[in-house]
Order: sequence, then C-alpha cells, then structure tokens
Amino acid sequence: MKLFGTIWFYILALGVAAYVVFAYGFMPLGSLVHPDMKLNFLAHKAGIYIHVFSSLVALSLSPFQFSSRLRSSRPRLHRFIGRTYLGVGVALGGLSGLYMSAFAFGGLVAKVGFACLAACWLVTGMYAFLAIRRGDVQEHRKWIVRNVSLTLAGVTLRVYLPSSMLAGIPFELSYPLIAWLCWAPNLLVAELAFARTHNHSFKPKPLPSST
Ligand code: HEM
Repeated sequence: MKLFGTIWFYILALGVAAYVVFAYGFMPLGSLVHPDMKLNFLAHKAGIYIHVFSSLVALSLSPFQFSSRLRSSRPRLHRFIGRTYLGVGVALGGLSGLYMSAFAFGGLVAKVGFACLAACWLVTGMYAFLAIRRGDVQEHRKWIVRNVSLTLAGVTLRVYLPSSMLAGIPFELSYPLIAWLCWAPNLLVAELAFARTHNHSFKPKPLPSST
C-alpha cells in the first residue's frame, strides 16, 4: 500500500511537472489557459514565470525527500535538496503565488483562496525549516508533510480542473471553488494521517493472557 502511494506520488508530481515544462517552457505564455487568465499572465509576466518555475522546483523535488534510502545513505544530498525545495521552491514559489493571487481569475473567492494557500505554504515551510535547525526531527517531519500536502495543490488543481470541465461545470463557477478545494482537503488529510499514526503509536498493548 505504501509502495503504491509512493509510485503515485512520483507519477503525479513528475507528470504535472512535465506538463508545466511543456506549457510554460515551449508554448507561448497563457496558450493553454482561459483567455482572461492569459491577459493577466501577459500583464504580469515576471510574476507568473517566477511562480511557475520555482513551484516546479518544489513539485519535482518533493517525492525524493520522502525516500528513507536517500535520507540514510546520502544525508548531505537530502539536506541540499531540502534547502533547494524550501529556499527556491516554497519561498520563491509562495511569494510569487501570493503576488499572483491578487490578480487571480475567479473574483474575491479565488483570490483569497490562493492567498491563504500561499500563506500556509510559506508558514509551514518556515516551521519545517526552524524545526530542523533546532534538531527536532519529529516536528520537522510533521511540518514537511503539511507543506508537501500543499505543494500537491499544484497536482490536485490540475486534476480537478479537467474533471469539472468533463462534469460540465462552468469554469467561472468551478475555478473559485477549486482555488480552495485544491489545498484545504490536502491539509485535512495530512492532519488525519497524523491523528491515525498518533492513535496507533499509543494503542494500548493487549494484556498478557493469564493461561
Ligand atoms: C502552493 C502554493 C501555490 C500558490 C499560492 C499558487 C498560486 C497561483 C496563482 C494565484 C496562480 C494564478 C492563477 C490565476 O491567474 O487565476 C497560479 C498559477 C499557476 N501555478 Fe500556482 N500556486 C501554488 C503552487 C503551485 C505549484 C506547486 C505548481 C506546480 C508547478 C504551480 C503551478 C502553476 C501554474 C503552471 C500556473 C499557471 C496556470 C496554469 O497553467 O494552470 N503552482 N498559481
């Protein structure tokens, strides 16, 4: 089950990363998005390019940080990837995402949704960094899991958008909702997973039988 999840994590993260490289590295800016979004991107070229390519760094590095083999056999590489993930991916991607949220398509609901996502991404990344600086591996792990659940908004958004189109929901209606749905449930799942592992680790041991 764990292996299954890991394989999906790599496929989805690297699959969306490949799509982003294609759409923003090889196509004219905004050619695959709604015309209003395209206009917005053309008006904020630096903001969108910085956001897309730094978030791409976070998304494509994230699966590798969960490899326990890499962590134990190449700890320095784990640290280097971690610093790049947080310093380039989350910090730059989050700040530029926050900037772009002010112009997001879909009105106030979408703008606030993306702005909250950016704030949560930046804050969880900062807490993960501060925890590992003081050597608190348990806390670091928790904050990184929260943070990566938000990085995966880059994937969930691109799963929900075509799904809502296939379901025939007008883009103007689905986009503001997806600006929230792409990340809030991810964070909830991360919290539920912590609660489960916590419950498991504190499960009382069965009493030894008296016979
Ligand atoms: C987690 C924090 C993130 C925030 C706050 C955020 C925010 C935003 C905002 C506000 C826009 C502009 C949307 C509009 O104009 O309507 C945008 C677009 C975009 N973002 Fe993010 N984003 C985040 C994560 C990511 C990640 C991890 C990726 C993965 C590479 C990504 C890739 C993109 C792309 C490719 C676009 C252009 C629209 C498209 O082609 O679908 N973002 N983002």
